[in-house]
Amino acid sequence: MTLHQVDTEYQFDHVMTGEILPDLDFLWNRMTDATVETVAGLRKGRVLDVGSGASKELVRLASMGWEAWAVDPSAHMLGMSQMTGDDARASIKLVRAIGERLPFADGSLDVVYCQAALDHFADRHAFMSEAARIVKPTGRVVISLNNFEGLACKLGRRLHPLAKATRLHHCADWPCWNIPPDHTFKGDWPLVKTLGGDNLVLEEAYGVSLLCMLYGWGHLLRLLPQGIATRLLHTADRIAHSRPALSDVIVSVWRPVSQPEIAAS
Ligand SMILES: C[S@@+](CC[C@H](N)C(=O)[O-])C[C@H]1O[C@@H](n2cnc3c(N)ncnc32)[C@H](O)[C@@H]1O
Repeated sequence: MTLHQVDTEYQFDHVMTGEILPDLDFLWNRMTDATVETVAGLRKGRVLDVGSGASKELVRLASMGWEAWAVDPSAHMLGMSQMTGDDARASIKLVRAIGERLPFADGSLDVVYCQAALDHFADRHAFMSEAARIVKPTGRVVISLNNFEGLACKLGRRLHPLAKATRLHHCADWPCWNIPPDHTFKGDWPLVKTLGGDNLVLEEAYGVSLLCMLYGWGHLLRLLPQGIATRLLHTADRIAHSRPALSDVIVSVWRPVSQPEIAAS
C-alpha cells in the first residue's frame, strides 16, 4: 500500500451537508474531548495523530507539552492542520503519509492515536500493526471509532418505516446505521474488540454519546431550552460510558504485547 493508492484529496466538506443538530454537534465535541483527555492521561512524550484531518486535537496536546506529530495523506487536510497550528500558536509537525505505512522508527512514539479515521483507511490491519511497531513497549495506541451498531442505529432501523410514513426522517437520505460511502468498513463493538490482532492488548474501552442521529432526537433537543438539552446529552453520554456496544463512538486503549507474552504464546 502506498500514498498513491489512497484518497489523497480528502476534504471535510465532502463529508456532511445540511443542518448540524445539537446531537451531532455534541458528539463531535465530546469525541474530541474524550480522545484528548484519554491521551493526556497517558505518559507524556511524543504523540502521533494518524488521519489527523485538521489536527484540532493535536494542537491541544501540543499546548499541554506533548511533542506533536500528524500524519495524513491529504494535502488539503495538512494545509488545514498548518492553519490550526498557526492559529493556536502550537508547534505540530506534519507528515504526508498513510496509516498503513508509517515513516517512523520502531518504538519511537509514546502514543499513537486515530480519531474518526480508521474506517477511512484501506487496510485497518496494516495500520494497527504499524501502530504496534512504532509505539514504545510502554506506549499506547488509542482508537476512537464510530459505532454503526449502537442504540441509535438499532432503534433507527426499527423506526425507519414509521419515520418515513410520518415524514420524521431528517436523516432518511443517510440512515445512521448505514456507513457513508467514504468508509471502508463498518465499525461496531465486536469489531473493535478484534482490532489489536496479535500485536496489541485491549486495556480499556468506553462509549461516548448515545442516540446521535436517531429520528427526532436532534430536533427535540433543538426545541428544548438549552440547559435541559445539554443535561440530557450529558446524561446520555454518562450512560454510554460503560456501554460501548450501545454508544455512538467507542474509544479503545491498547498496549503492545510484551516480550514474555510473545515468548509464552
Ligand atoms: C473523517 S476525517 C477525520 C479527521 C480527524 N481525525 C478528526 O477526527 O477530525 C478522516 C481522515 O483520514 C484521512 N485518511 C484517509 N485514508 C487514510 C490513510 N490510509 N491513512 C491515514 N489517513 C487517512 C483523511 O485524509 C482524513 O483527513
